[in-house]
Amino acid sequence: MNALIIYDSNYGNTRLVAEAMAESIKGSAISVKDFEMGNLGNLDLLIVGSPINGWRPTPAIKNFLENIPNGKLKGIQAAAFDTRIKSFLSGNAAKRIYQALNTKGAKMIGTPVGFYVKHTEGPLLEKELENARIWALHLFPSN
Ligand SMILES: Cc1cc2nc3c(=O)[nH]c(=O)nc-3n(C[C@H](O)[C@H](O)[C@H](O)COP(=O)(O)O)c2cc1C
Repeated sequence: MNALIIYDSNYGNTRLVAEAMAESIKGSAISVKDFEMGNLGNLDLLIVGSPINGWRPTPAIKNFLENIPNGKLKGIQAAAFDTRIKSFLSGNAAKRIYQALNTKGAKMIGTPVGFYVKHTEGPLLEKELENARIWALHLFPSN
């Protein structure tokens, strides 16, 4: 089973979350900045993650989602997460990513989820990497 996690990260926290997920489900994690759309074939599971920047995913994640060709995600399971600060003003980038993947025809699984950082530059709150591993394993138990 082939699982890919595509992420963006300004300070490295979302990257750490993506890498923890990749390790737990024996998939790979790649920065959206290094990803080429042609490599989207042959996937069983796609997870997309972004820091929340101004209540939304980053511009690089937004561009990536917009540029996915229609129908390209048909038959691929997909899920979404973000990293965020604990505040009632946080917003929800994971939900927006989830909706965009759904619009592109992916078979959505799991609930969009946020993992918390203490401050803008991090670090992640204690146990968030473990929570990320568990979340990914629940999505993709067969790996
Ligand atoms: C320009 C900017 C805007 C941000 N806006 C939000 C926001 O709307 N809601 C929130 O919870 N966190 C916000 N943050 C904090 C980020 O969520 C935090 O920096 C991120 O989770 C860290 O992950 P990273 O190290 O992968 O970039 C913002 C950070 C930056 C730099």
